[in-house]
Amino acid sequence: MANNIAGKIVVITGASSGLGEATARHLSAEGATVVLGARRVERIQSLAKELTAKGGKALAVATDVTHADQVKRLVDTAVQTHGRIDVMLNNAGLMPLAPLERLTIDDWNRMIDVNIKGVLYGIAAALPHMKRQKAGHIINVSSVAGHKVRPGNAVYAATKHAVRVISEGLRMELKPYNIRTTIISPGAVATELLDSITEPDVRESARTMIGAIAVPAETFARMVAFAISQPEDVDVNEILFRPTRQEL
Ligand SMILES: NC(=O)c1ccc[n+]([C@@H]2O[C@H](COP(=O)([O-])OP(=O)(O)OC[C@H]3O[C@@H](n4cnc5c(N)ncnc54)[C@H](OP(=O)(O)O)[C@@H]3O)[C@@H](O)[C@H]2O)c1
Repeated sequence: MANNIAGKIVVITGASSGLGEATARHLSAEGATVVLGARRVERIQSLAKELTAKGGKALAVATDVTHADQVKRLVDTAVQTHGRIDVMLNNAGLMPLAPLERLTIDDWNRMIDVNIKGVLYGIAAALPHMKRQKAGHIINVSSVAGHKVRPGNAVYAATKHAVRVISEGLRMELKPYNIRTTIISPGAVATELLDSITEPDVRESARTMIGAIAVPAETFARMVAFAISQPEDVDVNEILFRPTRQEL
């Protein structure tokens, strides 16, 4: 366990693309066993196959994080298969940006359901096991938008602020159980996230602005690895990072 990653059982939501996929690859290469959740099951199955072929241990479980029972099944499968859960990475999310006046109510609901409730369901699924183990690590993905609001991202920023608030409350409440909590707040990273923007003009301008500065998804994976790899008596509470070129 030289790197404090090898041998750990890591559950990742949103593992079918972007940050989750890159993290699965990185942690698997470091010796972790990864349990992958997402709705696009063929993607996580082929990722699990790829990691297994390279000598890693990986399992794919079809999971929609808007259903608490599916997130519970994801985590319970990890525990039934491997005996415990060491890290829960609540990463699934979407970012359908639009000015409030466009009244994109379906997008508001989806962001609240996935970005906030999905994280809460991940906490609910992992916590009973981690309390019993008196060990574990919950990593929640916020954003620079969890620190800053600007015109056009109010609802997304609200969901990411919520993730930080929930995570800080969780951090304090979990002291009796020896469970670590980390918030990771990325700036612009090149993933499929902008595809979730439903307003075509907003999507195009975001692609131009964010595409010009975004760093590779592997950047995020290294942050996750840094937090996990610290000695167990060190809890990295938050990592906020941006591309060097990102101003906001
Ligand atoms: N990329 C950035 O610049 C950036 C910056 C700050 C924060 N973030 C955050 O990083 C996280 C990952 O996003 P990404 O950038 O990697 O984008 P991405 O490539 O679009 O990946 C999003 C992931 O979330 C999953 N997902 C979406 N809805 C889901 C649902 N209902 N149930 C289960 N999984 C669901 C997707 O899987 P399926 O569609 O297969 O279900 C996919 O694996 C998000 O929380 C995002 O807000 C990203």
